[in-house]
Parts: sequence; C-alpha cells; structure tokens
Amino acid sequence: MTEIDPSIVQLVSRDGDRATETPVSALFLRRWSARAMTGESIPEKALLCLLEAARFAPSAYNAQPWRFVYARNGEAAFDALLGALTDSNRVWARKASALILVASKAEFTPAGQKPVTLGSASFDTGAAWASLALQAAMLGWTTHAMAGFDAGKARAAVKAPENLKLEVVIAVGRRGDAAELPPEKQALEKPNARRPLALTAFSGAFPDEV
Ligand SMILES: Cc1cc2nc3c(=O)[nH]c(=O)nc-3n(C[C@H](O)[C@H](O)[C@H](O)COP(=O)(O)O)c2cc1C
Repeated sequence: MTEIDPSIVQLVSRDGDRATETPVSALFLRRWSARAMTGESIPEKALLCLLEAARFAPSAYNAQPWRFVYARNGEAAFDALLGALTDSNRVWARKASALILVASKAEFTPAGQKPVTLGSASFDTGAAWASLALQAAMLGWTTHAMAGFDAGKARAAVKAPENLKLEVVIAVGRRGDAAELPPEKQALEKPNARRPLALTAFSGAFPDEV
C-alpha cells in the first residue's frame, strides 16, 4: 500500500488555493472531489482499506447502518452502476478505478429491545462516507460522491433490497488530466472554498437568521 505523506497530519492554514481561519490537518484541505481520473486499476487491498475506515465510523446504537456494494473498473457491476448515473456524472466517472454504491438501513433491533427505526441512518452513513473519503485522500486516491443517479436503475444494478435507502455512488480513482474532461467541467477541476465559519458555527445559541 502507498506510504502516507507525514505532512498530511500537520496543522496548516493553507494548502494550495484552500485557506482556513484556524489551522487544521492538511488532510481536510487535500481531500477534494476531482472528476478527472486515470482509470487505472485499484488493488482490492486498497479498496478494502477504504471500506475498513468506513466500518469504524460512529453510529447511533453502534448500529452501523451503512451498506456498500463496490465494483472495480472492468467488472460487470461497474458498468451497471455507471449506467445508473446521470449523463453529467457518467461522462467523467467512466474513468474511475472503482464505483461504490452507499446505502443505509434504518431498521434496527437493539440487543434485547424492540425494533426501532433509526432517525440517524443517513447521518451515520454520511460519517462512514467521510471516513472512507479521508482514508482515500491519505493514500493518494481521490473520491467523488454523486447523488446524481437513477435510483431504480442503481437498485436493479446491485440487487439492492427495498429496505435500503440508496444514498450516493462514490467514484474512486487516481487524479487524472483535467484537459481530458468535457470543457464545461474543466474549470471545476480544483479545490473549492467554504463560507466563513461565522455563518456556520455559533457560540451558545443561533442568531435570528441561519
Ligand atoms: C451527497 C453528495 C452528493 C453529491 N452529488 C454530486 C453529483 O451528483 N455530481 C458531482 O459532480 N458532484 C457531486 N457531489 C460533490 C460536491 O459537489 C462536492 O463535494 C462539493 O462541491 C464540495 O467540494 P469538495 O468535495 O471538492 O470539497 C456530491 C457530494 C455529496 C456529499
């Protein structure tokens, strides 16, 4: 597996065009959703490492409501998932090394209790996706979540039962050449910014307008 660049944990106020108001580990700035990918093969061990990071995300009741189906480029399931994406996503995601369908399951029975419907299933599954994305960034892989897919087609493609909510399809790959993207996507191929922290986090109480 790729060696991890130790500078990724160092606190920084800037990484390329991204600047922070308070220093954070460079990892959070280096993760961004590229579209240009090389299409190179991803070792199964690397893919399993990303899924392992996701597995250790926190969740209500430790219910672990996330479920994944993964497929590597060249496999039939990859083409089936690719076919479920919107045209706008398919045009670049075809060069991903792998696609991962992320689903959540809200039904859960805590040990010795009655079944509950988890209100946090999507929230917790989002934490798992973030863990996966950050582990990938540490290893030099880029990840790009997509909600732009046809749920019916995706459900059929991976035989997802009706009790799963399909959340996103993630493209995983090595960053490629932006010049190979359609012209309208090329300008987007860079880390983007964030609104100020003062509009997002508040000391003590919310202001009148959020
Ligand atoms: C739930 C979710 C759905 C998204 N859907 C799409 C999508 O369908 N197509 C796309 O190109 N990007 C999609 N994105 C990527 C976002 O646009 C991107 O994460 C956001 O602009 C922040 O940029 P960054 O990830 O590079 O920091 C999605 C991201 C998330 C978390």
